[in-house]
Amino acid sequence: MSAPHAVQPVAYDGEAVILLDQRRLPASEEYLRCRTPEEVATGIRDMVVRGAPAIGITAAYGVALAARLAPDASGEFGAAIGEACRVIGASRPTAVNLRWAIDRMLRRLSTLGDMGIDQKRAALDAEALAIHEEDVAMNRAIGRHGSSLIPDGATVLTHCNAGALATGGYGTALGVIRGARDAGKSVRVIACETRPYLQGARLTAWELVRDGFDVTLITDNAAGALMAQGLVTCAVVGADRITANGDTANKIGTYTHAVLAARHQIPFYVAAPSSTLDPSMPNGQQIPIEQRPPEEVLFLQGHRIAAEGVRVINPSFDVTPWSLIKAIVTERGVHRPGPLGYGFKI
Ligand code: MRU
Repeated sequence: MSAPHAVQPVAYDGEAVILLDQRRLPASEEYLRCRTPEEVATGIRDMVVRGAPAIGITAAYGVALAARLAPDASGEFGAAIGEACRVIGASRPTAVNLRWAIDRMLRRLSTLGDMGIDQKRAALDAEALAIHEEDVAMNRAIGRHGSSLIPDGATVLTHCNAGALATGGYGTALGVIRGARDAGKSVRVIACETRPYLQGARLTAWELVRDGFDVTLITDNAAGALMAQGLVTCAVVGADRITANGDTANKIGTYTHAVLAARHQIPFYVAAPSSTLDPSMPNGQQIPIEQRPPEEVLFLQGHRIAAEGVRVINPSFDVTPWSLIKAIVTERGVHRPGPLGYGFKI
């Protein structure tokens, strides 16, 4: 691996996809071994691993694992991989990185022709590892490009977790913050707790404290008040899917922060690798938004906090329109909106 950040949410040893169980953080660091494609799909669905790029990497390793487990007979080999792709591909709908990674694995397989089965297995292992290594490299490039947007002494607000835990390592939004620090700037972070699943409180705070950052946790509701007091220099978030016009799906609550940032003339940035771009969708209205179980809202650490009989709506993501996003940072550079959208070249 090319110098990954110390936190490793996903690994693969040829017999299992190994996931840092993010449901248990920050209380304990436990790893779960997924030994079948079905267990990989369950790990993604149950959010043992989460974050768009990390989900894509996990899916790629899941396809490589499926090839290891598939029967040698060529028809059955292809059918087993096809079924694994179907099961893993259905695990979560919003992050396009999942489909992107599966399609890349299938494209690689289609180039292998009548190569021996063991060579195909090795080629798929190598492709999954390349997806992982490239993600870390893209994160670092995002960090280098994005650091130019962060003034020395800035206080950066972020939402959810778009850090090392959500990627191959290093992070996208947190990659920009790490990049600014690596460039010698002093930077403070405000992490929004991110109701209902608390990725900000449980994961971003853990990851940044561990990395020696000055990080302050706030409730999501406090963001507007802090912006109004002039305590936020800029906001940087990750993305689960960016459509052709720059509309961006990210964790529920992102849109609220973007509206508040616009109200207070605070720059609002999105950071994501090109594997999160979905040029097949013209705008954000078509993005499938995952609905999560009501229990995430009704219960806090096993304790019911709302009346029996109440209905719940629990969308996991929202869409921030391109017009609220000052720039999108990818591994290729800083893209600003213009007459041709953000000018992504896919
Ligand atoms: O439901 P999650 O935790 O998978 O949602 C994660 C996010 O919304 C992240 O901000 C996004 O995937 C970018 S991760 C680099």
